[in-house]
Amino acid sequence: MQIAIMDKTNASQNTIEAVLALQKSLRYDAIKGTSRGFLVGIYSSQFLLNLLKDGAKIWVSLENDELLGYVITISSGHLFQLAGNGGKINLSVPQIEVEAALYIYQIGVKSSMQGTNIGRRLIAAIMAEQSEPSIVADILVEPITNKGSISFFTKCGFVKVGYLKAKDQYGFEKLGTDIFFRAKSAIIL
Ligand SMILES: CC(C)(COP(=O)(O)OP(=O)(O)OC[C@H]1O[C@@H](n2cnc3c(N)ncnc32)[C@H](O)[C@@H]1OP(=O)(O)O)[C@@H](O)C(=O)NCCC(=O)NCCS
Repeated sequence: MQIAIMDKTNASQNTIEAVLALQKSLRYDAIKGTSRGFLVGIYSSQFLLNLLKDGAKIWVSLENDELLGYVITISSGHLFQLAGNGGKINLSVPQIEVEAALYIYQIGVKSSMQGTNIGRRLIAAIMAEQSEPSIVADILVEPITNKGSISFFTKCGFVKVGYLKAKDQYGFEKLGTDIFFRAKSAIIL
């Protein structure tokens, strides 16, 4: 397994399409009622290209050119943008620390490969490479708690430091997310 980093300088349409296909396969299924997966709309390739232009990186885990997992990271300014427009954010740590962190926009691992440390290795690669001092992630807790995601981030050394109530761009009136934070100096996995 290898981990590669895509940014605006080396964006590949094939990789973007593979990320979109994997994201689609992981989407929360309201009909099946499963609590696994994202409760978000499906991104378009233009949306991801725009994120990359804004400075995002997409960390991909590959095995024989097959995409097994990905993480989209961007500056945590995006997290605070979510709190705008009538939303609110409560933090138990200084906001400046969270503002300096790298924000995990989304993480996904192929269903059949979940539980095999792919997500953990992606987080470890980000911690090793990125220049920001720490990482912040927000995990959906309203209207549906992503319990698997909370377990995953906790196992990866993140701690809950806050709560965000935001209007979202995918059609949901209000979403509540818990904010999880991992300091760069935390003990390595
Ligand atoms: C959450 C997700 C990224 C975790 O990736 P993963 O590769 O399966 O996780 P890992 O195998 O690296 O697991 C690391 C640790 O977290 C735990 N963990 C991971 N997913 C878990 C889950 N759903 N429930 C409970 N614990 C979980 C693992 O048991 C492991 O701990 P252990 O070594 O003590 O057993 C993956 O399950 C996923 O893609 N979920 C669907 C999409 C999603 O909800 N993404 C997060 C929101 S953006």
